[in-house]
Amino acid sequence: MSVKRLITSTTKLKGEITVPGDKSISHRAVMFGSIADGITHVQNFLPGEDCLSSISCFRSLGAEINQNGSEVIIVGKGLGGLKKPEKTLYVGNSGTTIRLMLGILSGLPFESSLEGDESIAKRPMTRVTIPLSEMGADISGRNKGEFTPLTVKGQKLKGITYELPVASAQVKSAILLAGMQAEGTTTVVEPVKTRDHTERMIIQFGGSIERTGDKVVVNGGQNLVAANIVVPGDISSAAFFLAAGAIIPESEILLKNVGLNPTRTGIIDVLKAMGADITIEPYENGASEPAGDIRVTYSELQGTTVEGELIPRLIDEIPVIALLATQANGRTIIKDAAELKVKETNRIDTVVNELSKLGAKIEATEDGMIIDGKTNLKGGTVSAHGDHRIGMMLSIAALLCSDDVTLEQSDSVSVSYPGFFGDLYSLI
Ligand code: S3P
Repeated sequence: MSVKRLITSTTKLKGEITVPGDKSISHRAVMFGSIADGITHVQNFLPGEDCLSSISCFRSLGAEINQNGSEVIIVGKGLGGLKKPEKTLYVGNSGTTIRLMLGILSGLPFESSLEGDESIAKRPMTRVTIPLSEMGADISGRNKGEFTPLTVKGQKLKGITYELPVASAQVKSAILLAGMQAEGTTTVVEPVKTRDHTERMIIQFGGSIERTGDKVVVNGGQNLVAANIVVPGDISSAAFFLAAGAIIPESEILLKNVGLNPTRTGIIDVLKAMGADITIEPYENGASEPAGDIRVTYSELQGTTVEGELIPRLIDEIPVIALLATQANGRTIIKDAAELKVKETNRIDTVVNELSKLGAKIEATEDGMIIDGKTNLKGGTVSAHGDHRIGMMLSIAALLCSDDVTLEQSDSVSVSYPGFFGDLYSLI
């Protein structure tokens, strides 16, 4: 992650983009296909580094996976078809891969070890290992299982009821994946609803799961069967172009086939609250998850407050919301978002430090940030710090700067959007 890129300002972005497949859904399609019985076909899979890490880990567990760009075919032999890996499973930069795999590996009858890159080594794992241990899992690791490398010795699991202390779809999913292998029933209680791709996929792969209010319930001993998954475009990738279209004068961008799962569309609510000119045309094609086209046109924006139940619906979009706020009139307050500190980087610090270098009026708080706009951004040297979403946000920021911007570690974008710069330049 050491590639420097020089980005010059532009006056307008115009055109059409089909963003790549959703990262969260692509991971889950690989995992569910590998633990189901039969042949799973995945279309519009995201061939980004994170999802390729999931493929490589499941291949090491013996799953037969053929990937050709965005087409993936998985020959699943059920959970019983997975075998002890010969070497440590390497998850790269992917928190979703390691946390969901911990749920799967906890109940399998062999020992395995997992590790990832420098960023993964700093990310908290006890949020997953504590509930899994309550279910009977045997997981050990650095600092009492808090950090990688981790070792899992598969055990017979029992169902539990677990109230999530943090709103996290990764933790919820790990518990559900363990719960499907456990004896009895497993209930996850969510303080705030998080993305529900795992729940949807359990049903698509022939399993059963129920949600009542804030509780999600699965029964143990479930066998899954192969499915055909059509992955919609990633709204978290579309978010960079939604923001660009909203803040770069004279822009008009059409984003095709964007996933519109209501647990992920917080960015649209925020853009609308800020006064952005956005129109959505939902598809009626019965695909795996809701999707549609989104058109964004430049307009004057106002500051807003982003807080509470909205946060999990846009957690990955907060870096680009901070950029939007620098171009909106008045103050924007982002709070209840302390989770940002444990993402790929501490995203409160990286967003505040890097946008400050470009002249933004932005200040960190304990659980978010405060931004005053509208500011004229200036040029300079900034860094993605190995964080894909910071890299993409800074690239959009650079288009507005009065002087050139050098973006260090620009290749970080490949984690979720390998074709990001090509798509961006196609609009100039
Ligand atoms: C993800 C859930 C979110 C999100 C991450 C992907 C998922 O993390 O930030 O990029 O696929 O379940 P948390 O669930 O830990 O908030």
